[in-house]
Amino acid sequence: MSQRDNQLRQEAYAEIEKFRDQVEADPHRLRFHIQPPVGLLNDPNGFVQYNGTYHMFYQWMPFKTGHGAKFWGHYTSDDLVNWQAEPIALTPSEWFEKNGCYSGSAVEANGLMNLFYTGNVKDEEGKRESYQVLATSEDGIHFEKQGVVLELPEEYTAHFRDPKVWKHGEYWYMVVGTQNHDLQGRVALFRSSDLSDWEHMGVVTGAHTDQLDDFGFMWECPDLFELEDKHVLVVSPQGLEVQGNHYQNVYQSGYFVGDMNYETGKLEHGSFKELDQGFEFYAPQTTLDDQGRRILVGWMGVPDQDEEHHPTIKHKWIHTLTLPRELTLDGDKLIQKPIVELEKLRKEEISYERVELNGVETTIEGIEGDAFELQLGFEHNKADVFELTLRNNARVVYHKPSGELTLERKRFEDRRMESRTCKIGELEDLLLFVDTSSVEMFVNGGEEVFTARYYPEQENRSVYFASSGELTLNVSHWKL
Ligand code: FRU
Repeated sequence: MSQRDNQLRQEAYAEIEKFRDQVEADPHRLRFHIQPPVGLLNDPNGFVQYNGTYHMFYQWMPFKTGHGAKFWGHYTSDDLVNWQAEPIALTPSEWFEKNGCYSGSAVEANGLMNLFYTGNVKDEEGKRESYQVLATSEDGIHFEKQGVVLELPEEYTAHFRDPKVWKHGEYWYMVVGTQNHDLQGRVALFRSSDLSDWEHMGVVTGAHTDQLDDFGFMWECPDLFELEDKHVLVVSPQGLEVQGNHYQNVYQSGYFVGDMNYETGKLEHGSFKELDQGFEFYAPQTTLDDQGRRILVGWMGVPDQDEEHHPTIKHKWIHTLTLPRELTLDGDKLIQKPIVELEKLRKEEISYERVELNGVETTIEGIEGDAFELQLGFEHNKADVFELTLRNNARVVYHKPSGELTLERKRFEDRRMESRTCKIGELEDLLLFVDTSSVEMFVNGGEEVFTARYYPEQENRSVYFASSGELTLNVSHWKL
């Protein structure tokens, strides 16, 4: 470990100690999500199962609740539910990463964990350089930096980052998020037989290629994987214009389903679909675990979207990761379900069959709290409108005539209501994971997901149900 590395670690650990009480005193501190010990968390990184243990790294700025020279924080887990904090994985200590160990991924090879990430460098005038860097580890806890493995190809600007690596046949492949000199966002593909020499194969897809027109000025955090005989490219494009209910957040995250041609390096794909219909979701990453599951975790935040208005910054921390979701395909649509291990969190089940709602707003005995799982099954829905209000701060509204589902919440800045809407057709079921300051709602068995932070009053633990007409509900509730 270099002297600079050691110094940065000591400073970050000192910051954790200094603000520990202030962070822990925050009533919005989450109970069952990955959050930073202090400072800012953003993208999930290096998500991998290594020697049976799940590893989750994350973009971390220990010294403030804004962005900057990122570290990699680290958690491990045996079950994707209970996470253990590990020593800092990476600090921005070397010349090729001095302004941040930016996002990247992990693969197991030759008995080592290999982390690929972006070294971000800025000079005094703010001019950027980007390097793709390798760090290796035997134990998955202590990392040795092997240095730069990939320099910027001439086709792209220095917005060249977020390597995701996987193996296919004889070769290793890497996708990198890029911007070309015409300021079009694209995904670049590289190939290697030894993880250190990388050959540029071209562009997988992107804005202003033969498959897309205008589609953003920069594509971040690509992830390309096989799923049920198809290929899925998950990516976070920046610069999409709002289109009706679509692309309402500052930046988007979504996917293309298609066929990858490893000879040409191109993905023949269908249309882009957003992964999440809520307010906070960005830069997701997936891994394949030893049960063969493709599992996705996202950052429950969006760059430059109200970040300065989260009340947690008074307590010296900001942001969280989403719960892990298992991915499957239904045609060209991803189905996202919370991983089954989350059932381990359940305490004190309360269930009711055939609760009848009829026009009036009501509570249901025992259905309340600040951290809970709530399952709702809809039967005989004759009501035009169904509403579920959480802690007088967020509201779910289903409008049957239009088939639209809406999530409303109080804006962080001024507590006026704001909303996100998605067309779903008939509403059959809702599954909500509600933590002290977050909501993740899975709709119709995972056809859609809405993710959001929310900041209710601490004392308010109420859940209200309302319908404009006859509606029968099956309800299950667990404290988490
Ligand atoms: C996405 C992102 C990545 C970058 C990282 C820096 O949120 O901008 O492109 O590597 O965050 O923290």
